[in-house]
Formats: sequence, structure tokens, C-alpha cells
Amino acid sequence: MTHDTLNEQSTEALSVTQRLAIAVVGLLLALGLIIWGVQHFRISDPYILQVLALKGDRDRGALIFQMNCAVCHGFEASGEVGPDLHRVSERKSKVNLIRQVISGQTPPMPQFQPEAKDMADLLEYLESI
Ligand code: HEC
Repeated sequence: MTHDTLNEQSTEALSVTQRLAIAVVGLLLALGLIIWGVQHFRISDPYILQVLALKGDRDRGALIFQMNCAVCHGFEASGEVGPDLHRVSERKSKVNLIRQVISGQTPPMPQFQPEAKDMADLLEYLESI
């Protein structure tokens, strides 16, 4: 009888520990998700903020495009090695367009480091086609 009671107690104690462990794991997961979300969506890059604050010049952007990007994307941005960029702004946000140009994360597209004003002009051009 005493033995039974002991057993019962230990199973119950274990399940409490288990529940606690599950709660802790769940809490850690939630915390990780929140941290990931904040880092993923917050625009903390001062360069991007600077570009977004500027008013771009479409014609100047077109020239910059023809000099730097047309080799791969075509003179009219209709695509060569790189994809057709018409209506690209429907697929990518301003921030993602900037990241595409400056990140170098999709080779063979190189990593560009345009002045903020040049990037703003490029962005204006990309959004106009
Ligand atoms: C050496 C060739 C090359 C050059 C130069 C180049 N790109 Fe690209 N670009 C690519 C390739 C290839 C991709 C597709 C990358 C992928 O997603 O895998 C791409 C993708 C893109 C995309 C995303 C297209 C989409 O459908 O999401 C944008 C926007 C873009 N390029 C803009 C530019 C701009 C602006 C410049 C000039 C500053 C430039 N590229 C210069 C090759 C190039």
C-alpha cells in the first residue's frame, strides 16, 4: 500500500516536471520567434533609411541602370542573364529592392554599393517600369 502511494507520487511528480519542461521549451520557442521576427522585419539599416528618405530621380536612375545593370538585365530591363525587371516592384518592396542591389546574396548578381542618392534614383526607376 505504501509502495503504491509512493509510485503514484513519483508518477505525478514526473508529470509536473514534464509539464514544466514543456512550458519552458514553449516559452523559449516563443521568445526565439519574437527575436527572429523583430530582427527580420525591423529596418535598422541606416543606409536603407537614408535611401528611403530621399526623393529619387527616375531619369537619372535609368542612366545608372543602363551603366551598371543593363549588361545582365538588358538595356530596357527586359532580361538577359538576369530576369526581366518590369513590374518587379509588385513582387518586391522598396526595402527588398534595395537589399537585392546591396546584398550580393544572389550570385551572379554582384554586390553594389551605390551612394544613397544613386540608390534612391535607381529605386525610382525600378518602381517606374
Ligand atoms: C552580373 C549580372 C547582373 C548584374 C550586373 C545585375 N544583376 Fe540584378 N540580377 C542578376 C541575376 C542573375 C538575378 C537573379 C538572382 C536570383 O534571384 O537568383 C538578378 C536579380 C535582380 C533583381 C530581383 C529580380 C526579381 O525578380 O526578384 C533585381 C531587382 C535586380 N537584379 C536589380 C539589379 C540592379 C538594379 C542592378 C544594377 C545596380 C543589377 N540588378 C545588376 C544579375 C545581375
